[in-house]
Amino acid sequence: MNSWLKYIQSVPIFLKHYLFLSTKICPTADICVILQPKAFNMAILSIPDEGARISEPKQIREFLNARGIFFDQWHCDVVFDDTATQEEIIEAYRKDLQPFMEKGGYLTADVISINKLTENYDAIRAKFLAEHTHSEDEIRFFVDGKGLFWFHLEGQPVFNLLCEQGDLISVPEGTKHWFDAGEKDPFVKAIRIFIDMSGWVPHYTGTEIEKRYSDFEI
Ligand SMILES: [Fe+2]
Repeated sequence: MNSWLKYIQSVPIFLKHYLFLSTKICPTADICVILQPKAFNMAILSIPDEGARISEPKQIREFLNARGIFFDQWHCDVVFDDTATQEEIIEAYRKDLQPFMEKGGYLTADVISINKLTENYDAIRAKFLAEHTHSEDEIRFFVDGKGLFWFHLEGQPVFNLLCEQGDLISVPEGTKHWFDAGEKDPFVKAIRIFIDMSGWVPHYTGTEIEKRYSDFEI
């Protein structure tokens, strides 16, 4: 076995991911690959009825903050594979997660994962897709994958935020919203943060406003 392969196999899995993403690897004198850090995906905010779109993070933050919605972006060099446990994912984001939870008085965090192998995905999607509110903030940090949060604020045009890896969104309690991970090939891995998990129960508004935007494509 080549010495570089022996070296790579001896490295702990988390460190290995970091090295593969940031290092110049030369398996032989003839083959040399430079692997760059994974690009930071950007959130996109859209106002379909106005044909408007914002992709600059500072402007997105200002737009949302002005409406009482917290938005942030956290970065982490760890890349998780499918075997990563909830504890490993939460630990990797501890430096951002812990102060955020302490400041907001949040008590628990877990990790949800939805992908094309998720059983009963259509039923799960339908549960998120109808406009609803919660009795506590709905906070999601996107570890991987993506999803679309829709907001229906009083007296304002409906807007949505495409959340991707690194995006943190906090939907205030009582805010009318819905969420979609897509009809086909869903992929979301997100940290959920709670004061009390019972606060996450959806209270449906029954307006069916979400149907007006069902053909929206980012
Ligand atoms: Fe919700």
